[in-house]
Formats: sequence, structure tokens, C-alpha cells
Amino acid sequence: MFEIQNVSLELEGKDGVQILKDINLKFDNKKIYVVTGPNGGGKSSLAKIIMGVYSPTLGKILMNGQDITAMTISQRASLGIGYAFQNPPRFKGIKVKELLNMAASHNPEKVNICDLLFNVGLCSQDYLERDVDASLSGGEMKRIEIATVLARNLKLAVFDEPEAGIDLWSFQKLAETFKNINQKYDTTIVIISHQERIMQLADEIILIAGGVISKQSEKNLLLARILNPNNCECKNNCEKGVGQNVECIR
Ligand SMILES: Nc1ncnc2c1ncn2[C@@H]1O[C@H](COP(=O)(O)OP(=O)(O)O)[C@@H](O)[C@H]1O
Ligand SMILES: [Mg+2]
Repeated sequence: MFEIQNVSLELEGKDGVQILKDINLKFDNKKIYVVTGPNGGGKSSLAKIIMGVYSPTLGKILMNGQDITAMTISQRASLGIGYAFQNPPRFKGIKVKELLNMAASHNPEKVNICDLLFNVGLCSQDYLERDVDASLSGGEMKRIEIATVLARNLKLAVFDEPEAGIDLWSFQKLAETFKNINQKYDTTIVIISHQERIMQLADEIILIAGGVISKQSEKNLLLARILNPNNCECKNNCEKGVGQNVECIR
């Protein structure tokens, strides 16, 4: 189990503004969680806290009871925590096949890197020899990075808006792939997403806005609320047209 306990985050240059405020979350093993919410709400910051890109200003992070708050990204990677960035970095001078082979080398099981590319909707013949540089489009880079996360046999995998820049066909494929990885490796999956198709995969949905968890619940309950156009997620829980205030306008 992965636990985030009373985590707050302040970043330099934000003049003491808390980006995350007293976050408490538990990710049970082998489940799929979808984190959603408005832009700027703190989703990517939460992902970076999980991976160790950011250190919390307050609070603790535990993996199976072990306090990993002070661990670096690579120490967390060796525990089986992996992260696909919202905006993936590029690596000049490395080919796609080399990047995937590097990632697969951490997996004790045999990995077919062509299958990995297929699973994210890319044709291996077209991509294996390509350089991981600016010649790849945003959507291509995104899928290659997701494939590197899939190549590893992870305990906890975090995907930040995997749908961005991805066409509908590949997107369907990707949604199936998340499910398969969850079942094959028993990976706990956290997906930051705004897509209903992805939310449908979730055991639980977490709604984060203004740096706080505004709701966490079993998929069907929260999905029904999110998809109901007459509902708004304001603090007063008001219905459309009733008691409208500035918090309702989005
Ligand atoms: N490195 C940073 N420095 C300063 N502000 C940041 C940094 N990263 C994120 N923020 C701010 O923190 C808030 C939450 O950002 P983010 O976690 O990226 O939100 P989301 O992914 O939900 O859109 C935003 O107001 C954003 O501008
Ligand atoms: Mg984000």
C-alpha cells in the first residue's frame, strides 16, 4: 500500500502559496485510481510528490509501511515506482529501441518492445530506429514514454494525462493496455485524466481542486456526479441555476 499522509507542498517563487494542502490518500495494491479535476488544481504536483520530483514541505510518504519521504527519484524507481510525465523529456542521441530496452532491462520478465509500441498505438517498424528528439511529435513522444513505463514491472505506475495529443484509435488501445498491465503485473495504477473512457477503468476516482482532495469515492458514485451537467463541484454543492455564485462558474 502507498500512503500520502498530511502532505503539503509550497514551491519557491509561489510566495508561500500552498500548491497542495494537507493531502491524505491511500492507494491499495493492484487497484486503478483516476485523479481528475480542474487545470492548476495540483494533479501534476501530486504525481511529482509520489515520484520524488518534489519533496513535500510537510507530511510523509509511505510505501508498504516504509517511510520513503526522503528518497530520491532513482531510489523510488528501484522500489518499483514509475511516472510518465505530462510533458515528457526528450533524450538526444538515443533511439526509441534503446530507450525501451533500457526500461525493459529492469523487468525480470521477457519484454517484447515491438508489442509495447503496438500497445500504445505505434507501429514498431516506423519507430524503433527513430531518435528520441524533437523530430517526434508531442503525441508520439507521449506514447513512447508511456511504453517505457509499461516496459518496467512496476508496483506503482503514475500516468499524467496520457490522453493528451493521442488520437481516438490509439487512445482505445491505451485504455485496454492500462487494464492489461494492472492485471498482468498487479501494478497499482494512478492515472491523471479528464477522459470518461479512462475514468471507467478506475476502482476509485479522486477529485483534486485548489490543492485539496475535494472528493474520493468508488467510481460509479463520482462518475455519475462528474458527468451530470446539472452538477457543479463548488463548495456549496448547489444545483444549476440555484444559488449561483462565482465558484459555480467554470
Ligand atoms: N515548479 C513550479 N513553480 C511554481 N508554481 C508551480 C510549479 N509547478 C506547479 N505550479 C503551480 O501549482 C499549481 C498546480 O499545478 P499542477 O500541479 O501542474 O496542476 P494540474 O496538473 O492540476 O493542472 C498551479 O497554480 C501551477 O501554476
Ligand atoms: Mg497537470
